[in-house]
Amino acid sequence: MRERIRKILVTGGCGFIGSAFVRIATSKGYRVVVIDKLTYAGDLARLKGVSPKYKFYKTDICDKAKVEKIFVVEKPSIVINFAAETHVDRSILDSGIFLESNLMGSQALLDIINKYEIRKFIQISTDEVYGEIIRGRFLESSPLRPNSPYAASKAAADLLISSYMRTYGFPALIVRPCNNYGPWQYPEKLIPLSILKIIKGDKIPLYGDGKNVRQWLYVDDCARGIVELMEKGSIGEIYNLSGAEELKNIEVLKIILRILNCSDSLIQFVKDRPGHDKRYSLNSQKISKLGFKPRVSFRKGIENTVNWCLEHKTWLLSKWKDIAPLYK
Ligand SMILES: NC(=O)c1ccc[n+]([C@@H]2O[C@H](COP(=O)([O-])OP(=O)(O)OC[C@H]3O[C@@H](n4cnc5c(N)ncnc54)[C@H](O)[C@@H]3O)[C@@H](O)[C@H]2O)c1
Repeated sequence: MRERIRKILVTGGCGFIGSAFVRIATSKGYRVVVIDKLTYAGDLARLKGVSPKYKFYKTDICDKAKVEKIFVVEKPSIVINFAAETHVDRSILDSGIFLESNLMGSQALLDIINKYEIRKFIQISTDEVYGEIIRGRFLESSPLRPNSPYAASKAAADLLISSYMRTYGFPALIVRPCNNYGPWQYPEKLIPLSILKIIKGDKIPLYGDGKNVRQWLYVDDCARGIVELMEKGSIGEIYNLSGAEELKNIEVLKIILRILNCSDSLIQFVKDRPGHDKRYSLNSQKISKLGFKPRVSFRKGIENTVNWCLEHKTWLLSKWKDIAPLYK
């Protein structure tokens, strides 16, 4: 099986989750070709130390001519699309690039791949496409009710892919992970932003009353889940991918503050994000039935993440200039 699917084209492989996937896939013997535009969120440093089994092309997935050339030269049998603009706050300020990369970029990939033969296309979607849920958990069959421009751009791509599956028999599957955290996450997202703020000696901004609930999944578990779906997932299916652990944002911050021996008084409540979803929660029994289970508890994962951030202060601080305008 692995022999036949040995070459994987990974878009967005210099991002947070994509790079974790590249590390795990290459360590399992797969050959990986990475396409990444290297936006402010992409960083080749994330792939330092990865075995020479990966190859890199600095390319925008919206550039059909360039992507097709790579496709023809590399002849991958699997394509995994991680490439996206991913920060909800930025999508609220300007949704244009979100539609370009997340929807039109996916469309470009679909049209190129549709001309050739591959075994599987995996779209990395998000739990945010379902919108919020106050009680219970979303199933893969739940309706899409995205509330932010980011979530709408991801939901639009999911719908387009479903239409290609039905119309052309396109061999895709869609994965919807919950909130990820772990080493190398760009520090505009809640957990690394809070750690960076503590390192800088600043207050930590927390939206609204801090009671918004998210499920948390350690990034290596997410990447392992995607490898599992690459190997065993069925074409035409959608898979939720989450850890069981749900926490309010304020609880997450208090855990980080405890680990760093800091006082809760560092938390500064700020005006809520417009349209802020109260709670996301996924039912992930479908992927569990394939034998997948997250291995890293939130307690262990958050300690690893805090320690990693302390060891990579320079990297975190180097990103501050791109994040600061969001927190004026
Ligand atoms: N981080 C999470 O908690 C989370 C949760 C659920 C789903 N997701 C999804 O997982 C995927 C990866 O998320 P992440 O957190 O690693 O994101 P990220 O922002 O860390 O990385 C995104 C990567 O995509 C690249 N990219 C962006 N636009 C591109 C384009 N047009 N062409 C080529 N490359 C481009 C960037 O340079 C970057 O390397 C995304 O599709 C996201 O929607 C993320």
